[in-house]
Amino acid sequence: MVGRAAKAWASPNLAFIKYWGNRDDLLRLPMNGSISMNLAGLTTTTEVEWQDSLSADSLILNDTPQTGEPLRRVVAHLNALRQRLGITGHAHVISANNFPTGTGIASSASAFAALTMAAVSAAGISLSERELTTLARLGSGSASRSIPSGFVQWVAGETHEDSYAETVAPPEYWDLVDVIAIVSSTHKAVGSSEGHPSAKTSDLQTARVAGAAARLEICKEALLTRNFAAFAEVVELDSNLMHAVMMTSKPSLFYWLPMSLEIMHAVRLWRAEGLQVCYTLDAGPNVHCICIKSDADEVRDRLSALSGSLTIRVAPVGKGVQLEPLSLA
Ligand code: DP6
Repeated sequence: MVGRAAKAWASPNLAFIKYWGNRDDLLRLPMNGSISMNLAGLTTTTEVEWQDSLSADSLILNDTPQTGEPLRRVVAHLNALRQRLGITGHAHVISANNFPTGTGIASSASAFAALTMAAVSAAGISLSERELTTLARLGSGSASRSIPSGFVQWVAGETHEDSYAETVAPPEYWDLVDVIAIVSSTHKAVGSSEGHPSAKTSDLQTARVAGAAARLEICKEALLTRNFAAFAEVVELDSNLMHAVMMTSKPSLFYWLPMSLEIMHAVRLWRAEGLQVCYTLDAGPNVHCICIKSDADEVRDRLSALSGSLTIRVAPVGKGVQLEPLSLA
């Protein structure tokens, strides 16, 4: 592939302070700001080629041509990019995850970060990192946080242009590790995109949102001063608040499984015993155990001892989106 083609990779990210619910679902303007770390070692690699002769966009994901919802979502994003950037033609998109799909590790953040970077670059358009984060956000809110490197804050904003993400600290700033306990790898019943509109049906969402900016500041301060005790307290609180909203939405979204709760209890106990570890859960039953690198092996061993059937992945803090040389084909 030559000419209007480019390839990029991006990692998923894990939110310490969560994004749940939009003020504008179409533009993905969130109700509150969020903060995350990129997950090193997990990547989506995406190649985009724009051609004026094509009559439709196409998507190959993990070697399989896609139709239905995955294609629809990619076409919607390409439409947004065409409209906002004046790109002509249709795109041939080839994408692959290096982590098995169906592990329950969300791939929409890495997918739309890599797609945005590759599509913009293939069109020969040069944008600032901030502009790239706003465009990635249109595909998936959390994708905005996979564009910058390391620890990243997504500023909620009130318009497309001022809802952007930026690095708070580089990956090497604090040696945190996400030890992911994969409790269930079955496809989640209600994905995030369907979940966000339901947030406002919970009486608790107003209270969660009201305190979110303060929690974000506490989290950022704990991160910048490497204060694990303060960090753990606010990260677990924010996860619990989001799940309280989910559970009390109509219809109720109940993502925790018995094993999720067992791990959450164990993590609190281990912290009381001196391990620097805390938990957070996204829209699924898997438990992200965030710990200091020197405690990661111990956390992993203790998780395995809890249940032999857990799959465990370990991810340190990762970089942001990167362009890759094109393979000559
Ligand atoms: C629970 O970014 O996946 O992981 O914008 O509809 O693609 P869409 O939703 P998404 O939502 C992420 C929700 C979350 C919390 C978080 O990552 O902040």
